[in-house]
Amino acid sequence: MKITVTCNAVEAQTTSALVLLFAPHTSPEKVAAFNLSQPTSYLSKVTTLVQRGDFHGKARELRWLYLEGAPAQRLLVAGIGRDKDDENFDGAFLQRVIANAVAASRKLGINELCVPLAGPMLDQFGGTNAARLVAEAVLLANYRFAQYKTPTEKNNTVLQTLTLLLENCKPEAAVKSGAHIGRVLGTWTCRARDLQNTPPNALSPIRFAELAQEYAHAAKLSCEVWDEHKIREQGMGALLGVAQGSLQPPRFVILESAAHQATQPTLVLVGKGVTFDSGGLAIKPLESMLDMKYDMSGAAVVLSAMCALAELESPLHLVGLLPLVENMPSGTAQRPGDVVRACNGKTIEVADTDAEGRLLLAESLAYASRFQPEAVIDIATLTGAMFYVLGDAAAGLFANDASLAARIKNAAQHTGERVWELPLYPEFSQQLESEIADIRNVASKRGAGASKGAAFLASFVAGYKWAHLDIAAMASSTKPTALAPKGGTGWGVRLLVELCLNWSETKTL
Ligand code: BES
Ligand code: ZN
Ligand code: ZN
Repeated sequence: MKITVTCNAVEAQTTSALVLLFAPHTSPEKVAAFNLSQPTSYLSKVTTLVQRGDFHGKARELRWLYLEGAPAQRLLVAGIGRDKDDENFDGAFLQRVIANAVAASRKLGINELCVPLAGPMLDQFGGTNAARLVAEAVLLANYRFAQYKTPTEKNNTVLQTLTLLLENCKPEAAVKSGAHIGRVLGTWTCRARDLQNTPPNALSPIRFAELAQEYAHAAKLSCEVWDEHKIREQGMGALLGVAQGSLQPPRFVILESAAHQATQPTLVLVGKGVTFDSGGLAIKPLESMLDMKYDMSGAAVVLSAMCALAELESPLHLVGLLPLVENMPSGTAQRPGDVVRACNGKTIEVADTDAEGRLLLAESLAYASRFQPEAVIDIATLTGAMFYVLGDAAAGLFANDASLAARIKNAAQHTGERVWELPLYPEFSQQLESEIADIRNVASKRGAGASKGAAFLASFVAGYKWAHLDIAAMASSTKPTALAPKGGTGWGVRLLVELCLNWSETKTL
């Protein structure tokens, strides 16, 4: 999509649709727009609507207005009133309003939108943030995964142009930089969604690694891809154990930013990359297996966040680790009861072949220590238990360090991607004791599945600050929202980028 910043008087701007935001009126004579700095003749049209009682400015209220002889072919009047008194008009709220405007425009087959950035909106959010929020929302709401659909008139209406309109060319630099950040975040979140939505027969570990190389190259990140031989050489027996049931060989991808390790803090991001999780010999019922193409969401999010950070010129030394496998049942598949050895020498009893994600993450967390990282954050569709713990209201956050957890919560608040911290009690790790190996991959007792998964990971963390995000219930959705259709959500790209961009500023949290 083309995103442009234009300086012009609102009433002189030629456009297919001009979006004006309105709060509910207290008195019909005093209608004021949230994104205009002064009354214009457009405003008097809205005043008429309000006076006739046809528009109240409630959230989700949208009206089209058609203007004789004006350069704007239509006005899209959008309400920004709060539903409840405790609802804030924050960034997430603004993005939902903009996303609803995108949906309404697409319905009419309009392919260009113009959003003035002025007045109270600029005062509240500032130029950079206002532009970032609007650009990001338009890209996210405009997203569709249509690669496997034969194009028809009906399904190919997409917005092609977003114009951010400044009345006096102020603050041009801030708005341009915000539009850039919003474009990068929106684009890479959508790219993560594309990877997530791609069917599992088209996205094998090999194909994923090829795409990682392509994206990394374009974003000027270094990218090393290990094949199964190199993985064996490195002693990653737990990763190979998961992969051995599949005809698709595994890959281990290492992404690295150019920054100098000696002068910049190192952060390692790890993403679970199971391109399809059948459960292995502990095979899943069809109903649970259907969504298992999304089991590579962590890897998609880490790849996208790394590329976005490179494009936004993050100064940090960033490392991304993507263990990529397919978990299949076959005559060569690993058995419940097998013992495998991870690259740090630790042995694992595979008590359940469906608890495969933690085996990949264990290898990656053990390997991460060689970068002497200031912190390691992993993100994974790790446990179905998350559907019971938090549902799709928030991702589970686990951390061995309160300051790292606080940074993540802070970043989550900014991007509207909610996290909720869950405990890592000692009894969770006690239940992972094995009779025959150093650890079991599932507990002997039922319950607290998400925490026990996290406790397993914790035992592979070696002397660095670590946080784990369980996104099993966030990675894909079965209901469309304003900012995302059904399917892969790209959840976490914006969160990881926000966290890394603010790393140096929020050091003393
Ligand atoms: N990929 C699944 C977790 C999952 C389930 C993600 C549903 C998204 C939706 C993971 O590999 C898994 O199967 N976990 C098991 C662990 C259990 C065997 C301890 C689970 O959650 O049932
Ligand atoms: Zn599984
Ligand atoms: Zn899995």
